[in-house]
Amino acid sequence: MIERIDALRTEGERAFADSGDVAALESARVRFLGRKSELTGLLRGLKDLSPEERAAVGAHANKARAHLEQCLAEAEARLAGGAAPGPTRDVTLPGRRPPVGHRHLIDSVLEEIEGIFAGLGFSVAEGPDVESDWHAFTALNMPEGHPARATTDTFYVSRDVCLRPHTSSVQIRVMESQPPPVRIICPGRVYRNEAVDATHHFEFHQVEGLYVDRDVSLADLKGILDRFLKEFFGPETVIRFAPSYYPFVEPGASVDIRCFFCKGKGCGVCGPLSGGWLEVLGAGMVHPNVFRAVGYDPEAWMGYAFGMGVERLVMLRHGVPDIRMFYQNDLRVLRQF
Ligand code: PHE
Repeated sequence: MIERIDALRTEGERAFADSGDVAALESARVRFLGRKSELTGLLRGLKDLSPEERAAVGAHANKARAHLEQCLAEAEARLAGGAAPGPTRDVTLPGRRPPVGHRHLIDSVLEEIEGIFAGLGFSVAEGPDVESDWHAFTALNMPEGHPARATTDTFYVSRDVCLRPHTSSVQIRVMESQPPPVRIICPGRVYRNEAVDATHHFEFHQVEGLYVDRDVSLADLKGILDRFLKEFFGPETVIRFAPSYYPFVEPGASVDIRCFFCKGKGCGVCGPLSGGWLEVLGAGMVHPNVFRAVGYDPEAWMGYAFGMGVERLVMLRHGVPDIRMFYQNDLRVLRQF
């Protein structure tokens, strides 16, 4: 028996060493170390031997088995190391560069806008996307039943909770949490139940601004927005205020820039009826009812607020023709910015 074990040991050793590929090695493994191999059968048969024999033969067989396992491991390492015939490795080739992404255009523009306003003394405030009816409407001078609630087609989570349709809700949260003066912008996502087309989406971004102090005038608002729009669209930018209605400001204005494509003549971008102006912002002086809602004294404090749609600004500045392009994750689009 001892002789047979030694023979198997030598044969196995050779079979593993001679295996030229993984398949050959595997069949050698099955033959010499598998569950049905002769060596395994010998070990199983030990129980029929006398105790003395069992000890001697068992020790011998176990040693052989350990040795063959070692040979198998060596053969596996040899094959994995590429010593087998086939292409060799060229270690002088440059490595493969992993693809490196970059920030989404909307995200980097948000940061750019934050940077411009930081330079004008504004800090950044944030609020939740899922908002109470109070913050989204009521405190903004839109009590229940107010027709202006219908101007934003809002997604409701429950009767008093919605996805915020504008970032103006953050104005309320900031004023509720601190005494005046206030000088903040709030960038963030907003949600509206819009039919999606080239210029409308159910989810987009706004940047809100709020300034509250003792002596604030419409001229301050105009100066800040002129500064911002010149930084954003270039020093040639011409702006204009037109009267507009938002319940939370009085007076309210829509802010237009002169179309930089046609210089105000009217074109495909600004539309033939626009007279060459592009509306880019809503703004106005904070309504006294808004101050009352947050517990600020409207006799003592004044302020202005503004809100802008970020996608629209980006589409104009970069000539992106369709708002959906920001969200389709098409790398051919995203790589350009
Ligand atoms: N919240 C308004 C909108 O979503 C924009 C706005 C903000 C207007 C602040 C005036 C003042 O259209």
